[in-house]
Amino acid sequence: ENIGTVVYENSTTASKAVAQEIADLIRVKQAQKQPCILGLATGSSPKSLYAELVRLHKEEGLSFKNVVSFNLDEYYPMEPDSVNSYVRFMKEHLFNHVDILPENHHVPDGTLSKAEIANYCDQYENKIEALGGLDLQILGIGGNGHIGFNESGSLQNSKTRLVALDHITRVAASGDFSGLENTPRTAITLGVKKIMEAKRVILLAWGERKSNIIKASTESEVTSSVPASFLQEHDNATFVLDKEAASKL
Ligand code: GLP
Repeated sequence: ENIGTVVYENSTTASKAVAQEIADLIRVKQAQKQPCILGLATGSSPKSLYAELVRLHKEEGLSFKNVVSFNLDEYYPMEPDSVNSYVRFMKEHLFNHVDILPENHHVPDGTLSKAEIANYCDQYENKIEALGGLDLQILGIGGNGHIGFNESGSLQNSKTRLVALDHITRVAASGDFSGLENTPRTAITLGVKKIMEAKRVILLAWGERKSNIIKASTESEVTSSVPASFLQEHDNATFVLDKEAASKL
């Protein structure tokens, strides 16, 4: 078991610590005149992290001009200006409030035709590859152990692709979509392979509702039925938890 777990009093203090690590990385890359390649996540868990990064930008002059970001996933189909799109989420929580260049942030495109998706996913990975890979990947975790939208059964070498969402993932999202019948059945997700290739991985989990899956991901065997457990085989992955999410460890 390689995963480090770090437990904070609450999600606010935890998010501040993670934001500081990201700020330090961005500044190191700036000093080296290098781009900083970040893998970003959506969901409720990273909201406090993005709020702190925005604060560091506004109050402490942290610049995102050398940041190139790649989001993990997007529902499919999904229009970018729809209330539930991850493009919109990222603009509202981060991109609109910092100086990242518009051409430098990437979120998988939910508007493609089915025929275009496979090629698009290959290109998405190629762009990451051409920049030297992800310097740091932020993750949340689904109640079933999914990372991005790599649901149970996703392989450790899975590529970026169109996936079918699990029923419980759709149920969890159905509140946002005003009912299960309106909730997308598919999504585009970065594959497990690219996540595992990130030089550093930080998974965020808050609250009692995540405590069982955190225990399973970190203490049980590595299994494709809990994709977050693959991170046990990453040599620089940390689970950043609040007390409640860590309560079963
Ligand atoms: C969605 C996202 C995941 C996220 C998960 C957990 O399924 N695609 O990337 O980790 O939700 O969300 P939350 O952080 O709201 O618990």
